[in-house]
Amino acid sequence: MSTVYSQFSELKRRLEAREATIATVGLGYVGLPLALAVAEAGFKALGVDIDARRVADLNAGKRVISYFPENKIADAVASGRFSATSDFARLAEADAILICVPTPLDAAREPNMAYVQRAAQAIAKELRPGQLVVLESTTWPGATRNFVEPILRTSGLERGKDFFLAFSPEREDPGNASYTTKTIPKIVGGDDPRSLELAQILYSSVVTKAVPVSSTATAEAVKLAENTFRNVNIALVNEMKQVFAGMGVDVWEVIEAAATKPFGFMPFYPGPGIGGDCIPVSPVYLSWRARDVGGEMPLVDLAVRINTGMPRAIRDRLGTELAARGKSLAHARILLLGIAYKRDVEDSRESPALELLALIEEAGGRCDYHDPCFPVFPKTRDHAALEGRRSVALDAEAVASYDAVIVTTDHTKVDYALVADKARLILDTRNVLTKLRLAPTDGRYLKA
Ligand SMILES: NC(=O)c1ccc[n+]([C@@H]2O[C@H](COP(=O)([O-])OP(=O)(O)OC[C@H]3O[C@@H](n4cnc5c(N)ncnc54)[C@H](O)[C@@H]3O)[C@@H](O)[C@H]2O)c1
Repeated sequence: MSTVYSQFSELKRRLEAREATIATVGLGYVGLPLALAVAEAGFKALGVDIDARRVADLNAGKRVISYFPENKIADAVASGRFSATSDFARLAEADAILICVPTPLDAAREPNMAYVQRAAQAIAKELRPGQLVVLESTTWPGATRNFVEPILRTSGLERGKDFFLAFSPEREDPGNASYTTKTIPKIVGGDDPRSLELAQILYSSVVTKAVPVSSTATAEAVKLAENTFRNVNIALVNEMKQVFAGMGVDVWEVIEAAATKPFGFMPFYPGPGIGGDCIPVSPVYLSWRARDVGGEMPLVDLAVRINTGMPRAIRDRLGTELAARGKSLAHARILLLGIAYKRDVEDSRESPALELLALIEEAGGRCDYHDPCFPVFPKTRDHAALEGRRSVALDAEAVASYDAVIVTTDHTKVDYALVADKARLILDTRNVLTKLRLAPTDGRYLKA
C-alpha cells in the first residue's frame, strides 16, 4: 500500500469513526459556532486564536457571543470535547485544521488577505503528513489554490499526496434563530479527489448536508455569488425606495405585496446601507478578481456604490427635512437608534450607521447614539475619533431633546413606543415603527 493511500485511508477512518481532532483557527462569529458544532458531533475540537483573552474566556466557559444559549460554551468545555489555545504548536495534534480568520478590505478597499496569510504560515510550520486543511474564510476564486496552497507547500509537503486541502465557505447567519451552523448545508470543494472526499466526510458528520463541487475555486465562487446576489438585490430596493418615495409610493408595501407572488420574486429590504463583514465585502472581492482575469463587473460595482452611498443619501434627506422645519443640520442634535449592522448582534463591522454618524458630524450636527448591544462605542478602523462615546439612555426627556431620531438598526430591545410618542422627527430606515403599528401620523414620521 502506498504512503499516500495509507495517509488518506487512516485520516478517512479517523474522521468516519469521529476519533479525529479538529482544530479551528480563528474563534470569531464563524469559527466558534463551527468548533462547537464539531465538538457536538463527537470530535475533539481544539480552537486556536491569537486573542489570548478570548481563549481564556472560552476555557472559563464564558458566553462570549450574546445570542448563544446561556451554557453552550460552558457545556462544551465541561464535556472535555472543546478547548481553546493560543499555542499554534498544538496544531500538530489535529487531524484537520479549519481556517476561519477575517478577510476584510484594506484601506484601498481591496482584499486584505493578511489574516489568511498569517494563519497559513503558522499552519505551514506545524503541518505534518496526513492532515486535512480547509479554508473557510470568504475569499476570491483561486485563493485556496494560488494563495494558501503555496504557503502550505513551504513545509516541503505536497497537496493531495502528503496533506489534503479544501475550501468550504461559511454560511453562518449570526443571530438567525431558524438556521444554525448545523442545519445549513455546506459547500465543499477540493482540487484533488482525496481532499474533496475527506472534506465531505468531515462536514457531513457535522452539518446536515455537505454539497460537493468540482474545485476550491468553484466553492469560493459559490460564496461570492450568494453574497453578491444579496448585495445587488438590496441595491435595487434601495434605489427603488428613493424613486418610489418621489412617486408617493412606499417601497416596503410594494415589496410585501410583490412577495405574495409564489414564483419569480424574492423579497429584499432597503435600509441605511449594508453592514457586516460579508455582504458588503464579497462583491468587492469578486469584482477585484474579475479585473485580475481581464473581466469587469459593472453591475456589481454599481450595486456596491449604491449601497455604500446610502448613509450619505440619508444624511442629505435629514438635512432637507430639517431645513423644511426651519432647522439647519449644522446646528442640529440627532440621535441614532442602533450602530450594530443588524438586529440584536453586537457586531458593528462595516455598519452604515457609523458612516451616517460621521457624516452628520461632518456637516456640523451633533450625533449621539443609543444601542443596547454597544454601551460603549466599539473600536473601528475608520472611526477611531468616535471611540469612548457611550450609548445614551433612552428616556422621555432625552428622546424629546433631539431634533431628529434616526432608526438605523431594528434591535428588539428598544422602546419604540416611547420614540413614537416623544421624538420631534423620526427617520425610520428599517420600517420598524410601521411594522409595530407605532408610526405617528402627525407628520413627525418619515421613512428614509
Ligand atoms: N460573521 C459572519 O456573519 C460571516 C458569515 C459568513 C462568512 N464569514 C467569513 O468568515 C470569516 C471569519 O469571519 P468572522 O465573522 O468569524 O470574524 P471574527 O472577526 O468574528 O473572528 C475572527 C477571529 O480570528 C482571530 N484571528 C485573526 N487572525 C488570526 C490568526 N492568524 N490565527 C488565529 N486566529 C486569528 C481573531 O482574533 C478573531 O477571534 C471571514 O472570512 C468572513 O468573511 C463571516
